[in-house]
Amino acid sequence: MTIVKKVRWGILGTGAIAKQFVDGLNALPEAEVFAVGSRSEASAAQFSDERGIPRRYSDYEELAADPDVDVVYVATPHPFHAPNAELCLRAGKAVLCEKPFTVNAAEAERVVGLAREKGLFLMEGMWTRFFPLMEKVRRLVSEGAIGEVRMLNVDFGFRTELDPASRLFDPRLGGGALLDVGVYCVSLASMVLGRPSGSVGLSHLGQTGVDEQASVILEHEGGRLANLSIGIRTATPQEVTIMGTDGFLRIHSPWWRPASMTISRPEKESETVEAPVSGNGFNYEAAEVMRCLENGETESAIMPLDETLSVMRTMDGIRAAWGLRYPGEEVAS
Ligand SMILES: NC(=O)c1ccc[n+]([C@@H]2O[C@H](COP(=O)([O-])OP(=O)(O)OC[C@H]3O[C@@H](n4cnc5c(N)ncnc54)[C@H](OP(=O)(O)O)[C@@H]3O)[C@@H](O)[C@H]2O)c1
Repeated sequence: MTIVKKVRWGILGTGAIAKQFVDGLNALPEAEVFAVGSRSEASAAQFSDERGIPRRYSDYEELAADPDVDVVYVATPHPFHAPNAELCLRAGKAVLCEKPFTVNAAEAERVVGLAREKGLFLMEGMWTRFFPLMEKVRRLVSEGAIGEVRMLNVDFGFRTELDPASRLFDPRLGGGALLDVGVYCVSLASMVLGRPSGSVGLSHLGQTGVDEQASVILEHEGGRLANLSIGIRTATPQEVTIMGTDGFLRIHSPWWRPASMTISRPEKESETVEAPVSGNGFNYEAAEVMRCLENGETESAIMPLDETLSVMRTMDGIRAAWGLRYPGEEVAS
């Protein structure tokens, strides 16, 4: 009998998404949720007690320094992604960092540069890319199932009440639609159409100064276009339509946790393709991280670091046109 060593995960931050991610890890036999780090002892204790996590730290540095942790999942608000990921990389840890990877491209370049210098694994937690249905979307599009892709529509908006204390509305915590949900749409457009050559967009900046909703058009080589609608105060259908010369493909709502799509072609019956989600979905990105670690790969081919950098540069460009800067940012682009 071969005994396979489990991958020992450290969880940095004890907020809403960290809880869900741990549930995702617990569905994977090759993963062990081994340690948690929090800014507060009480939070670290509660999080670890409720989930049976063996080690707890009331300091992120101690978590990063634990020699028995293999990989750290960074689950803090956006402005802390860069310093938290750097802390872990400097301590020699592999890192999975929540989306948006950082607040701006300059931070992203620093973090990616450090991982590459140290030869350590690093990936943006763009979990949407790892669902089985997204694999099918990539395959169908590259096989020309709808001809040459010319345009796409993608939206991600939800209705939430204005709460200046929430990270969604607080500029100091990187609030606003673009960094929270727009990044999914920019990343989807990048996955299908590649790096954009330019963008135009309009946003509504709300009472706290963050973008509460926005419409953006990305321009891609050959006149291909991606149309993005995003919001944190307005619910949208949360669907994707990819349009080609021979038909179109709709990823059904919620497209960011996709389970089915319909392919429509002229003079043909439309075809529905399903790929049911197992677990809460975070298991897929975590499985990819562990596959990379097992194979000695320092980045994932599904969410490559150069693409993460390109997405961050696109986001910088989009909000530069709105005059949206976050506190402490020197220049956004
Ligand atoms: N992939 C997804 O589907 C998804 C969904 C939601 C959010 N996210 C991303 O995950 C990140 C965290 O989001 P969340 O909704 O989990 O946020 P949250 O509930 O506010 O939790 C963030 C955690 O970060 C830590 N933290 C460190 N410095 C902080 C500060 N100054 N203020 C507040 N918290 C601080 C806290 O943990 P301690 O007190 O234990 O240190 C806190 O519990 C964001 O970047 C977001 O974009 C991803």
